Amino acid sequence: MSFNIAIDGPSGVGKSTIAKQLAADLGFVYIDTGAMFRGLAVFFLDRGLDIDDEKAICDAVNDAEVTIKYEDGLQHVYVNGTDVTSRLRTEDVSRAASVTSQYQPVRTKLLELQREMARTQDVIMDGRDIGTVVLPQAQLKVFMTARPEIQAQRRYDQLKEQGKLGDATFESILNDIKERDYRDSHRANAPLKKADDAVEVDTSELDIPAVMNRMKELVRERKNA
Ligand code: DC
Repeated sequence: MSFNIAIDGPSGVGKSTIAKQLAADLGFVYIDTGAMFRGLAVFFLDRGLDIDDEKAICDAVNDAEVTIKYEDGLQHVYVNGTDVTSRLRTEDVSRAASVTSQYQPVRTKLLELQREMARTQDVIMDGRDIGTVVLPQAQLKVFMTARPEIQAQRRYDQLKEQGKLGDATFESILNDIKERDYRDSHRANAPLKKADDAVEVDTSELDIPAVMNRMKELVRERKNA
């Protein structure tokens, strides 16, 4: 049976950084489910659709086929055969993914793909509903959090380093993050929430090696259980 690790939590708390490193250490496959929702968001935006028009989005999702490939160990997202990976990390796409992932047909489109990937291989999957909906049987579930100011500072530093800050300020980033996390946590379908059996890890005061140590300790515990 495959060993599945689910990491859920709001944006900018360190999920993907930790999941990637841990997957490399353990020889597991890292699956970034946010990138799948972002891939669909690119598809909706390219069609010129209004992301608040639920019916238009739910009709259009039937025309989108999402596939995942690993190239040089990195996850690439394809929509209808086109690699959209380089377009996933803009603020427009972040917002569109948060809005359109509220709609159930969008979630249903990706659910089977996510489950299938975890069925046959050891995976670390991160997202919002992995421990609660996608992989409720995961052997280890972690709910990662951080104070919003810490989330915003990390995002600010990342954008600055990449030279992509543009007009954004610390305050605008903080507001965007709060708005997105509120929407992700309060939607009707598969909202972001801690699974009853998830372990909470607050990364506000922890650096990456400290979070990694905690994660490895949890994996050891579960593997020996
Ligand atoms: O993890 P991320 O920031 O790349 O996710 C982008 C958006 O996708 C997020 O705002 C909500 C949505 N999402 C989701 O609804 N369920 C998931 N499992 C992962 C992401």
